[in-house]
Amino acid sequence: MTVMLGVPQVRIGANPLSGVAGGAASLAGRPTSGSQPGLLDTFGRVATDLRISLTDKCNLRCTYCMPAEGLPFQPADKLMQRDEIVRLARLATERLGVRQVRFTGGEPLLRKDLVEIIRDVAALDARPEISLTTNAIGLSGRAAALADAGLDRVNVSLDSICPETFALITRRPFLDRVLKGIDSLGEAGIGHTKINAVLIPGVNDFEGPDLLEWALAGGHQLRFIEQMPLDADHIWDRDVMITAAEMRRRLSERFDLTPDEAPRDGAPAELYQVRLRGAAPDSPSLGTVGIIASVTEAFCDDCRRTRLTAEGAVRSCLFSHTETDLLGPMRAGADDDTVADLWRAAMWAKPSGHQMSAAGFQQPDRPMSAIGG
Ligand code: 5AD
Ligand code: SF4
Repeated sequence: MTVMLGVPQVRIGANPLSGVAGGAASLAGRPTSGSQPGLLDTFGRVATDLRISLTDKCNLRCTYCMPAEGLPFQPADKLMQRDEIVRLARLATERLGVRQVRFTGGEPLLRKDLVEIIRDVAALDARPEISLTTNAIGLSGRAAALADAGLDRVNVSLDSICPETFALITRRPFLDRVLKGIDSLGEAGIGHTKINAVLIPGVNDFEGPDLLEWALAGGHQLRFIEQMPLDADHIWDRDVMITAAEMRRRLSERFDLTPDEAPRDGAPAELYQVRLRGAAPDSPSLGTVGIIASVTEAFCDDCRRTRLTAEGAVRSCLFSHTETDLLGPMRAGADDDTVADLWRAAMWAKPSGHQMSAAGFQQPDRPMSAIGG
């Protein structure tokens, strides 16, 4: 453990680019409870969108995320408990200006107390919008209870609707369970479901238009995400990854895409109105598709996210090499002011961006499943 800016930051790996908070970083400007209500960083960004990982475990093994086997998981006593999660969500919403809380993992549905956690967060005085990122396995039996508890929106990770391709990517033959889970959302009254898809060269890259056709028919917004270097096996290759430009080119073989006029407002996805190829430009759109160009058209300048790992540490960026432990101080008796100040300080040191294109870039040691997507 090293002490930086008076904040206990756990260093994960040794990257020369990590922890660099830009030229403006200084002890003097660091915000404390009296000076700055929100989660401000040295580049003037304010985080209002909190992602909380509820577990590092998952029942799939997506190749771009987890290894086939052998990934060590955190022991149960290291994970945040329900009351600890709710306390941090309360601090974030009441004192730190957070307006949206998204539960992720690993696979958050693996938490037996997910419904209770959502109910408690929905009962907070400064109730945030509550969403879930899930692979939808097991969702069908719980969607109604989750909706009743206060879950507002769901993003489902699904890269293929072809059973063989699905099994190849996730290393598990569970496509039917995922589709059942997605169907159950509508029945439970949860609308505006988004589907997240990663295109992998030579595996599902040619399936983009089929996936989009399926999503449009179901009334879901499909978002293609550029593959990022966050996989346990380190298979990511900048030279062969499917770029946003390539995604647009492939979709254009079947569809006409028109950039959406609505302001992006910090959202990672660039949205397009979709029409069948050759349809009149003034004909009704079939829906929208999103492209999340995390690598080639990075949106770090407008990032509004703060993350908590399942062990209760703040990560100011997906690609951070440092984490700031909140759970340890909380369990040692830290009061709300102290925990909020630790969180502010961690975010103050947020790096300008992921630096994926910089010489010397090193991917974080922990895969996406351990960080929280
Ligand atoms: N690159 C891009 N997206 C990823 N996800 C997981 N790993 C990666 C990666 N290496 C996506 C999942 C999920 C979301 C949380 O992140 O598909 O939808
Ligand atoms: Fe599980 Fe999501 Fe990682 Fe796939 S991407 S292995 S569903 S955590």
